[in-house]
Amino acid sequence: MRATYLALGLAYLCNQTVAKSVFAHYMVGTITTDHANTDIQNAITAGFDAFALNVMSTDSWSTDAVSALFNASAGTNFKLFFSFDMTHFSDPSSFIPILKQYVGHDNYYTYDSKPFVSTFDGGTLTFGASDPNSGWTNSFKDVLSGAGIDVFFVPDFDDASNYPTDFFSTFTVVDGAFSWETAWPTVGAGVVNVSDTVDASVLGDAHSAGKIYMMPLSTFQFKHIDSGQNWYRIGESNIVDRMSQILSLQPDLVEVITWNDAGEGHYVGSFWDESIAGSNIGGYADGFDHTGWQKIITPFITAYKSGATDPSNITTADGNPVGVMWYRTLLTTSSCSSDSLGKPSGWNDAQDAINYAVVLPSSGSYTINVYSNNSVIGSFKGQAGLNGGTVTGLVAASADSQRVEVVDDANGSKVVISAAGTKDVLADTSGLCNYNYVVVGMS
Ligand SMILES: *[C@@H]1O[C@H](CO)[C@@H](O)[C@H](O)[C@H]1NC(C)=O
Ligand SMILES: *[C@@H]1O[C@H](CO)[C@@H](O)[C@H](O)[C@H]1NC(C)=O
Ligand SMILES: *[C@@H]1O[C@H](CO)[C@@H](O)[C@H](O)[C@H]1NC(C)=O
Ligand SMILES: *[C@@H]1O[C@H](CO)[C@@H](O)[C@H](O)[C@H]1NC(C)=O
Ligand SMILES: *[C@@H]1O[C@H](CO)[C@@H](O)[C@H](O)[C@H]1NC(C)=O
Repeated sequence: MRATYLALGLAYLCNQTVAKSVFAHYMVGTITTDHANTDIQNAITAGFDAFALNVMSTDSWSTDAVSALFNASAGTNFKLFFSFDMTHFSDPSSFIPILKQYVGHDNYYTYDSKPFVSTFDGGTLTFGASDPNSGWTNSFKDVLSGAGIDVFFVPDFDDASNYPTDFFSTFTVVDGAFSWETAWPTVGAGVVNVSDTVDASVLGDAHSAGKIYMMPLSTFQFKHIDSGQNWYRIGESNIVDRMSQILSLQPDLVEVITWNDAGEGHYVGSFWDESIAGSNIGGYADGFDHTGWQKIITPFITAYKSGATDPSNITTADGNPVGVMWYRTLLTTSSCSSDSLGKPSGWNDAQDAINYAVVLPSSGSYTINVYSNNSVIGSFKGQAGLNGGTVTGLVAASADSQRVEVVDDANGSKVVISAAGTKDVLADTSGLCNYNYVVVGMS
């Protein structure tokens, strides 16, 4: 009785004393010092607490970028932590030196006063031990403890067999879990909403074990690099649905996937030419600015941190409406016969739609009107807080004929905020089969 009470008390203390935070996954690539500064300033403005630095190499292009980012963060409250990309490392001994170099930096993110470390994958790696948990214990956690460094380890081990079943009893080495794949439905799932079943299960198990859960939030995926990497994972209303799920589940931490992964399309910040040079990624990402998504991410971060549990509780800093629209520039009926990679797998999970997310104040009354080819394809009464919609009926037509407008009901002709497309929608193409989104913040 007493022991149980004590354990619950500790868990309560632990969950209450560490502030909720929201991070953005950041692909470390070649970067100029100016661009490192810009990324950090923009992330601060958007309301993020830290970048999860996806490190996949300890070559100089990578260590120089890490150095530039830590330098750019100096003197700010913005933090950085490592997320080691275990599809590129075969043993922790390769990255332990860079970890040791930065864990003492003023801008290294700590949780429960310990340097926070995450990963992308690694749940099947054993490093010569009998199983992954022993491998990570012996080659990572114990090696660091031996050097006087007690890390707070929250890896993405959703590649582990049976994940998430028995996760915390199998992986005693972790202090928490992060999932990557739960951020979107799988490729080929059809027109479905993203599920939070796995997130809810891991979160419950984590808290039962006195550990934490970091939940992923993302927009969509489009990767079009080669025949083995050509897919679309739906993003029509994904970010809106995930925001509701996160507020309802109240995970300990949130990581947005991603700040700058142009190759997978889910960037919400800038990406830079020097980082994607030598790849074909610019072909489908250049000119597709996604920073409009920050219009709703910023109020979401504030709401999540304040303990709001419902999308109707999301408000904006100045009480005025904010919003964003997004659409794809190619109809799903396109053949893409001129593109050697052809249509991405999962293309038929996509909908020909104009999508929007709008945050409205609780006072006043608003209508959201959606236009394609200058015709109304949807009209919706606004609710207080976050409103989201996927409005089918997108047709091939000019950029500025694709629009979303928020109208003040007290004056039916007054558009308070709006966004118009920046690229035409095509029925087919003689060029690249591009499923990337045009994203336009409303003003
Ligand atoms: C970061 O700052 C240190 C100390 O001033 C400097 O030695 C290093 O070259 C800087 N890193 C980059 C990438 O400019
Ligand atoms: C997805 O969720 C929305 C509400 O957010 C609902 O209106 C819609 O019917 C759902 N779609 C499917 C395929 O379940
Ligand atoms: C959320 O909104 C509801 C209804 O407007 C309100 O009763 C509740 O107090 C709000 N919760 C938070 C955490 O703001
Ligand atoms: C777009 O609108 C114009 C003008 O009304 C019309 O001529 C055209 O057929 C429409 N395009 C589509 C694809 O419906
Ligand atoms: C309604 O809004 C329009 C556009 O802002 C403005 O010109 C007009 O004066 C407004 N009408 C009223 C009755 O406020």
